[in-house]
Amino acid sequence: MQSEAPAFRMYDLITKKKRGGELTEEEIRYFVNGCAANTIPREQEAALLMAIWAQGMTDTETTEMTIAMKESGETMDLSSLPGVKVDKHSTGGVGDKTTFVVAPLTAASGLTVAKMSGRGLGHTGGTIDKLEAIPGFRTTLSMDEFFDAVRKNGLAVIGQSGELAPADKKIYAIRDIIAAVDSIPLIASSIMSKKLAAGTDVILLDVKVGSGAFMKTLEDAEKLAQTMVNIGERAGKRTEALITDMNQPLGLAIGNALEVAEAVEVLHGKGPEDVREESVMLSAEMLYLSGRGDRDACRRIVEDALNSGAALEKLCAMVRTQGGDDSVIRDPSLFPQAPFVHEVLAPWDGYIVGMAAEYIGGVSAMLGAGREDLGDAVDPAAGILLKKKCGAQVKKGEVVATLYTSKKESIAEAEKRFLEAVSVGSEPPAPRKLIYARVEKDQVVRY
Ligand code: URA
Repeated sequence: MQSEAPAFRMYDLITKKKRGGELTEEEIRYFVNGCAANTIPREQEAALLMAIWAQGMTDTETTEMTIAMKESGETMDLSSLPGVKVDKHSTGGVGDKTTFVVAPLTAASGLTVAKMSGRGLGHTGGTIDKLEAIPGFRTTLSMDEFFDAVRKNGLAVIGQSGELAPADKKIYAIRDIIAAVDSIPLIASSIMSKKLAAGTDVILLDVKVGSGAFMKTLEDAEKLAQTMVNIGERAGKRTEALITDMNQPLGLAIGNALEVAEAVEVLHGKGPEDVREESVMLSAEMLYLSGRGDRDACRRIVEDALNSGAALEKLCAMVRTQGGDDSVIRDPSLFPQAPFVHEVLAPWDGYIVGMAAEYIGGVSAMLGAGREDLGDAVDPAAGILLKKKCGAQVKKGEVVATLYTSKKESIAEAEKRFLEAVSVGSEPPAPRKLIYARVEKDQVVRY
């Protein structure tokens, strides 16, 4: 019997893209499905991804890639759940713990949050790693348990099942090792395939910009945001993006339990102002996209939910329903503590003018908060608490950060690298914006 010849040759697809040509829908599907089914040699997968990285993709190609990746696995049908189903997605930032504020805040404001999150694609912990810092919390629920939890509390967050956009998982793993992550069409299709598969009505994207983000300039961040917003809107979802700062870590805490504890502080009416403000802005925009009134009215609803303690109660309810111990939410000092605590003292006088976020994320991973290989476990208690951020004046000998770890041997190198990540000048730096722009279907509003 003759075996069926493949419809396309990867060699031809690579040649076409390498020379700047446009791939057809069929060619993109052949590639994506072949990646998911492991029928394409790895070298050819890598070569086509690098050609895409170098030549880019048209909007039509990016949309076709997104749809093909979404259709490579299961899609969630949330239609049996009441209310407007919303999701927020960050393109990834160091110290970004807004999900733990935004999810209970929007649920306490009447929206439905049925969220599937990842473990972190690279070396730092993701939302699921952070949630697992809550003693007993279950991030794996059956679909029936997940839906029951959402019906009960208006809110549940679980780990993303491997069946959602499996082609993305495969393709991301290759991009990660061939240095092809930072590509607008590849990031947009990766994120939006998972968001569309997750089945919510509203998608709010938090696109990070700055030294610690994939997108280093506002122009690139706006282009990525616009690409994702267009894909979402074309798929019939209300989609918008806020562009937020990642030139330094968000808030003061970096690490799994440390970040959840800081988010909980915000729900208690305390915590750093940048985490609070960004969470309120994101939540209010989600209410706006859900048709709850104009932007001012939405902000008032969100602030009431925060100030009344309703959002804190929502998080406690979610934690209890998912098997966790909510005493850590009521009293964040009860979170797991690292055995070794080390204060980093300033070796200089001056003003902090820069904090390389990505590099600081690497230091936190070195202390145990991230993973070296994708299969490694993370240490919930490890990480960094910043004592000073950009703009602060420091005097020699003052504490600039505290390191937490169970790996005593990592402290000296972590301290050295942390200090390398901090730039000091004799004048205070110009103040930076926290939120730069809002990207809608047909306009960009700069703040
Ligand atoms: N997050 C994703 O899910 N995919 C990317 O490509 C980058 C960030």
